[in-house]
Amino acid sequence: MRENLQDLTELLLSHQPLTEEGFAFLIENRTPELSARLAQGAVQVRRQIYGTAVYVRGLIEISNICKNDCLYCGIRASNKNCDRYRLSPEDILLCADEGYRLGFRTFVLQGGEDAYYTDALLADLIGRLKEKYPDCAVTLSLGERSYESYKRLKEAGADRYLLRHETADKAHYESLHPASMSFENRMECLRNLRSLGYQVGCGFMVGSPGQTAQTLAKDLKFIADFKPDMCGIGPFVPHADTVFAKEPAGTVELTCFLLSVIRLLHPPVLLPATTALGTIHPEGRELGILAGANVVMPNLSPESVREKYALYDNKICTGEESAQCKDCLSARMRSIGYEIVTDRGDVKKRMDKE
Ligand code: 5AD
Ligand code: FES
Repeated sequence: MRENLQDLTELLLSHQPLTEEGFAFLIENRTPELSARLAQGAVQVRRQIYGTAVYVRGLIEISNICKNDCLYCGIRASNKNCDRYRLSPEDILLCADEGYRLGFRTFVLQGGEDAYYTDALLADLIGRLKEKYPDCAVTLSLGERSYESYKRLKEAGADRYLLRHETADKAHYESLHPASMSFENRMECLRNLRSLGYQVGCGFMVGSPGQTAQTLAKDLKFIADFKPDMCGIGPFVPHADTVFAKEPAGTVELTCFLLSVIRLLHPPVLLPATTALGTIHPEGRELGILAGANVVMPNLSPESVREKYALYDNKICTGEESAQCKDCLSARMRSIGYEIVTDRGDVKKRMDKE
């Protein structure tokens, strides 16, 4: 067994693909020593590609209105305690103005699946953003839309799209989502986004109810095959008004282990140290960077709505101003030997650091 673990580790450290069984074995038999070895390898390969730069994304939470009812999510349609809001295009442009002043060169528009944001409204908004800030990337994170919709938004100037796959195991997917949502459509959306030329991000929660070493192994295999440009992984954190209120949160330990594995199996990936990771541990984001992440996503949303965009309980940064969040993260990154850069922060396709 020990030899097996060693072989798998060597494969991963040399960026060779593992089988699903190999990933499951690695997860089930991980030790603190193995995690440390993988983190070391992950940091090394990231340094070769990205140096010590950490990219920042200005996250604008445009709406907490959502037609879906994902079992884990605090803004699910059936949550009557959620105080709903949506930002107008003008509100969003004001956030971007502030973000640009602060040095952000990527804006992430994230929200629930809210029909107010029609293709026409979004195309116009994206066009205005790109016209005003041609040196910035626009990332969308607005859930499942049709091929035609994704196409129109791409033509309007959107650069990237984040759509976590949530889990690569169909049965697990179905246990986390209502019957109105399908695993097949999720995967189809990701393929459509890729074929339209977006930089595409997938991802999943660590420690979601029903997750096992086997389902995680499928996630890792999917990532190894799909080779996303970005991959958002953070711990599941329960929300009091959901079905999963009493479920335990994911751990820092497993999240960091998986960040290292993902960096090793697809070295150029843009990997955020997420707000959820910062929520379950005071230095969660620093630990994420030290495990192989290279992106942070401070909040640019107006302060008045931050608490309302509660996907999970106890979310950090809800009382901060955008400038404070950016400065706080800059200081945090400097304290561990990294620096936040003013850059669009596109994915590097090859292993050659500029
Ligand atoms: N805990 C952690 N992450 C969550 N998300 C939604 N609800 C939770 C939760 N309770 C994540 C999902 C979604 C992303 C925007 O936020 O993975 O894709
Ligand atoms: Fe928001 Fe630290 S990142 S206050």
